Amino acid sequence: MRVQRFLITLTRSPVGLIGTILAGTCGFLIVTLTLWESIGTEQHPYLGIITYMVLPIFFTIGLVLIFLGIRRQNKKRARLSETGEIAEAEYPVVDLNDDRTRAWLVSAGAFGVMAAIVIVMGTAKGVEYVDSNAFCGETCHVMEPEFTAYQRSPHARVHCVECHVGSGARFFLKAKVSGVRQVYRLWTNSYDRPIPTPVQDLRPASATCEHCHWPAKFVGDRTQVNDKFRSDSANTHLQTILLVHVGGETMGESAGIHWHVDPANQVTYRSDPSREDIREVVLTRPDGTEKRWFNSADPNPRWNANGTEEEHAEGDEPIPTDIWRTMDCADCHNRPTHVYWTPEQAIDQALLRGVVSQDLPFVRREGLRLLKEEWGSTEEAVAGIFEGLEAFYRESYPSVAAEMAGEIATAGEVVGDLWATNVFPQMNVTWGTYPDHIGHAGFKSGCLRCHTSSMTTEDGEAVSTDCSNCHQVLVMDRPAAQVRLTAEATD
Ligand code: HEC
Ligand code: HEC
Ligand code: HEC
Ligand code: HEC
Ligand code: HEC
Repeated sequence: MRVQRFLITLTRSPVGLIGTILAGTCGFLIVTLTLWESIGTEQHPYLGIITYMVLPIFFTIGLVLIFLGIRRQNKKRARLSETGEIAEAEYPVVDLNDDRTRAWLVSAGAFGVMAAIVIVMGTAKGVEYVDSNAFCGETCHVMEPEFTAYQRSPHARVHCVECHVGSGARFFLKAKVSGVRQVYRLWTNSYDRPIPTPVQDLRPASATCEHCHWPAKFVGDRTQVNDKFRSDSANTHLQTILLVHVGGETMGESAGIHWHVDPANQVTYRSDPSREDIREVVLTRPDGTEKRWFNSADPNPRWNANGTEEEHAEGDEPIPTDIWRTMDCADCHNRPTHVYWTPEQAIDQALLRGVVSQDLPFVRREGLRLLKEEWGSTEEAVAGIFEGLEAFYRESYPSVAAEMAGEIATAGEVVGDLWATNVFPQMNVTWGTYPDHIGHAGFKSGCLRCHTSSMTTEDGEAVSTDCSNCHQVLVMDRPAAQVRLTAEATD
């Protein structure tokens, strides 16, 4: 009875009635959507935007309307009791014996049911959409660089949410909260450009990558052929062939590169937030024993082979912004899918595929020069690169310019496109913004962040830098034609 009385109070005025319907529907939806998500096997990370942002707004509007309705009603009643008038009915009297009223009610009911179905289907479709790559990568222009880079990776058919959200309640909520935060930043135009890397709260690889790849799967060696070109007039095609000791765990033993992800070996490290400067590495073995290395290049050395005793005492505290992290797949494969090339990799890929003709003299050298130039905008770059390449052949190789005009135009377009799909001025993304940690592209990069002679135990034992621990270099920068001849000769 109390509930009934309460409802009567709420709905006495039309304003209150509308408010009650609004708040009631939204409240019901919030509860069901939350339940649906927590028991569902499918993932809808951005459903949170609806559940926790849109619906609460309408829920609050409903509550405000209820409040206004009750206030109005109370005022009216007070006025009436003062003047002694009789209250006028707020609602029309519904007489079901009247044929027109009945017909009207039936059509209104049918319309209501139809509207409910449309709303439910629309919500389901909307949720599916915000989960899709189209929403994550295309609608959201902020992610254009990541989406472009993703499309040329082996994971171009893996959904964003499979790596970025994964399953499990805790990360679910995290993704939701961060999704809401991202939308807010987008609205207020206060997001970071470029989007910072590394992603500090990326799901652990065990819950994402390891759904499809798992440590015990890696065994033995893998050959890796790297194709490159020289910047000479013939654009000589070179090959480097490595026997990479991919390794991994088999029958309880592990060796080679995937030794790091054998669950028996836990490697943790302390570094600056960018994870580029690693200062301390700890290996914890299954029996609980530890091995610890310190980097003597640490600007605030706790233990530094080069420092004096006083300096050691002073530098005893780690840098406060340093973070600790347990190594997983993403510490080496930090670019499994957002693959940004270096200018050299970009042009070499285009030459290898033949979309930039290898017969154009110095096309690699000129392409590289144009790629590395500072361009203000994508339009400027695309036009400037196209014209730059044509101008080069017109001035230096007039006969080539005349005979191979088609190839030159195609090369100009392709090189412009290489720029446009790796450099994004509006997001401040340029060559090298997102480093790749596989291999050792430069001094102190990738593997060499730890595998360097300055990373030593107190006894002076360094993390190994022996080339053959990681790979055998079978062929290094040899012209591809020679590599084939040698292979034939040994057949
Ligand atoms: C195969 C797994 C995978 C897929 C699929 C994937 N990502 Fe990522 N993404 C990563 C990893 C790993 C990182 C973090 C690299 C790091 O922390 O160093 C990352 C980083 C990012 C970043 C931060 C900037 C950066 O490049 O470091 C953004 C933004 C992003 N991803 C968006 C997307 C979008 C949008 C999609 C879908 C179009 C997507 N991701 C699909 C694995 C993935
Ligand atoms: C939904 C399944 C799926 C998930 C999740 C996934 N991958 Fe993959 N990955 C694949 C498939 C399929 C291939 C093989 C593609 C091919 O052969 O072209 C692949 C290929 C790779 C390769 C080899 C690339 C090459 O050039 O040969 C690496 C490295 C890799 N994945 C790392 C990762 C990492 C790291 C993660 C987590 C951040 C991850 N993958 C998450 C399915 C997945
Ligand atoms: C210590 C660095 C490191 C870690 C950690 C690491 N990998 Fe790798 N992984 C490599 C290297 C190096 C290669 C070979 C070269 C390449 O693929 O470019 C490789 C190769 C691969 C390949 C291709 C292998 C093949 O046989 O074709 C896959 C798939 C892969 N890794 C997935 C993973 C997954 C999943 C994890 C986490 C469980 C992981 N890796 C952890 C460094 C690492
Ligand atoms: C800690 C492991 C490790 C050590 C030590 C190491 N490398 Fe590498 N190296 C790699 C990995 C990983 C790659 C990348 C493989 C790939 O292309 O995916 C690589 C790539 C290369 C390449 C091919 C690069 C290219 O651009 O084609 C050469 C050449 C090379 N290493 C030479 C050496 C030499 C010489 C040494 C010893 C002084 C050495 N490496 C030490 C892990 C290592
Ligand atoms: C965060 C630090 C760190 C990074 C980054 C790192 N390693 Fe290691 N790695 C270690 C440590 C620590 C050891 C153990 C050294 C020891 O026991 O002496 C090790 C051992 C190895 C071993 C020997 C495994 C065995 O059979 O015993 C190989 C091979 C190796 N790493 C390859 C790589 C390659 C390739 C990369 C880059 C793709 C890489 N590492 C990146 C820390 C790292």
